[in-house]
Amino acid sequence: MSGLRFAPLTSDALGAVLELQRESCGPLMHPLGEAELSDMLAGPAAGHGVVLGALTDRGLAAFLAVQFPGRAAHNLGRDYGLPEGDLDRALHFTGILVHPDRRGQGLHRRLIETAAQGVLPPDRHRYWFATVRPENTASVRGMLSVGMRVFARRPKHDGHDRLLFVRDLSAPAGG
Ligand SMILES: CC(C)(COP(=O)(O)OP(=O)(O)OC[C@H]1O[C@@H](n2cnc3c(N)ncnc32)[C@H](O)[C@@H]1OP(=O)(O)O)[C@@H](O)C(=O)NCCC(=O)NCCS
Repeated sequence: MSGLRFAPLTSDALGAVLELQRESCGPLMHPLGEAELSDMLAGPAAGHGVVLGALTDRGLAAFLAVQFPGRAAHNLGRDYGLPEGDLDRALHFTGILVHPDRRGQGLHRRLIETAAQGVLPPDRHRYWFATVRPENTASVRGMLSVGMRVFARRPKHDGHDRLLFVRDLSAPAGG
């Protein structure tokens, strides 16, 4: 796909991320709050996450928001049964959104692969986690395509049932 540049976003992208989310989030993604987005945009050194953007000359085409939840109660490692000490090695793919004009071109997978290859500090994580509404076929397939697997199904965020995905990077993909 031509004309796309991947780069970690910084705090000055807050408005663009919120605008893309407002316009194109749809009913199946739990929208990210301004405070949690700001924290992720601050980057892994100052904040608790990373937001990877896919940019065109005209602006933001897609983003992947990643959070390091640490020992927080909502760390999905708790649902997975990780021991307390391993919670620090978990990350959440908290939001992934592609502009409607760019959907169906493999960007879900490319965002996660690009983040994994060059953006996420490898020493910060061993476990990837995500929650996805079962009816969100594109996102379910996108998560499976990067080696994640479903380990539970239960209500999350707004009370809707969600599939809980994990990938343990020390195990073979899908394990
Ligand atoms: C979910 C979303 C991020 C997918 O992005 P995308 O770049 O269009 O997805 P991809 O092109 O990488 O497709 C991923 C997989 O879903 C399939 N797919 C894509 N669109 C589909 C659709 N409308 N129906 C069924 N399958 C679809 C693709 O064929 C691909 O499957 P494969 O890996 O087996 O080939 C995008 O639809 C979106 O932004 N939705 C609104 C926000 C949202 O719901 N985010 C996810 C929850 S956080």
